[in-house]
Amino acid sequence: MTDIPVISANGLNMPALGFGTFELDEDTVEDILPRAIELGYRHIDTAQIYRNEAAVGRAVANSGIDRSSFFLTTKVWVDRFSPDDLIASVHGSLKRLNTDYVDLLLLHWPLFGGRGMNPTLDALMRTRREGLARNIGISNFNIDQTEQAVAFCGEGQLATNQVEYHVYLGQDRLRRVLARYNLVLTAYMPLAKARTVNDPVLWQIGEQYGKTAAQVALRWLVEQDRVAAIPATSNPHHAASNIDIFDFSLSAADQERIAGLEKKRRICKPEGLSPAWDD
Ligand SMILES: NC(=O)c1ccc[n+]([C@@H]2O[C@H](COP(=O)([O-])OP(=O)(O)OC[C@H]3O[C@@H](n4cnc5c(N)ncnc54)[C@H](OP(=O)(O)O)[C@@H]3O)[C@@H](O)[C@H]2O)c1
Repeated sequence: MTDIPVISANGLNMPALGFGTFELDEDTVEDILPRAIELGYRHIDTAQIYRNEAAVGRAVANSGIDRSSFFLTTKVWVDRFSPDDLIASVHGSLKRLNTDYVDLLLLHWPLFGGRGMNPTLDALMRTRREGLARNIGISNFNIDQTEQAVAFCGEGQLATNQVEYHVYLGQDRLRRVLARYNLVLTAYMPLAKARTVNDPVLWQIGEQYGKTAAQVALRWLVEQDRVAAIPATSNPHHAASNIDIFDFSLSAADQERIAGLEKKRRICKPEGLSPAWDD
């Protein structure tokens, strides 16, 4: 079983590699998650909108492993951003996840309408005060929105901004802002939705270490300061391979080659939800 390094920032202690569950229905989660847990995954990323929280909760409960060994993240969907709805929705998530608290609670997208973000952030902070969430954070916030959220909540309060990040998308400016406030960047779509798995440059690099292109793509992320990655898979072989990235290090020359790949391929930009991206 692989031991996964833990990233610490602003009170957060989160395994640097997590298991993503976007687009995995409950049956798939019930099938793959027990195997992933056996492989050593403890950090599991779900969301209210994924409609699989209950399956995640069952897999955790049935694992026989103490709840405190897991790191569970869920995200509040944008139609539950009024303070009362947010609190009620988190109680719903906890019930489905079969737990008293989540380790990390995120606002899924920065869509606040005319009321602005402060009432929602206030409710988010309340979930932590009330013990519903151990850590709180944001997702898909651009630089300006991140600065606003930190200004409202206070420095040291938010643990992460979960955003798209992979070898084909640069996030240097956002990373600098997150580093200034000691927030982790949690990289979603870390395999660029499997586009990385056939990349010839990544394969060439991987050959030197006996690793696949996908493993190189993930390794490149977790080698960066305060960056976590949460790849998703329904395939047990892929789950095993994605976690097997902690026994090698990329050379400076290989890091540079990856840095040189084109960095403008944003995949996730849903209309009506996306902020004005910084890139
Ligand atoms: N906050 C947000 O708004 C947001 C948005 C998107 C995603 N996320 C989170 O980030 C997680 C990851 O993102 P994602 O699932 O969209 O994309 P991803 O992890 O970049 O890619 C998943 C795809 O890669 C394939 N794959 C995984 N491991 C592989 C391997 N070793 N070799 C070959 N193919 C492999 C999977 O197919 P197989 O099943 O065949 O392996 C799947 O099609 C999500 O599950 C979710 O938890 C958050």
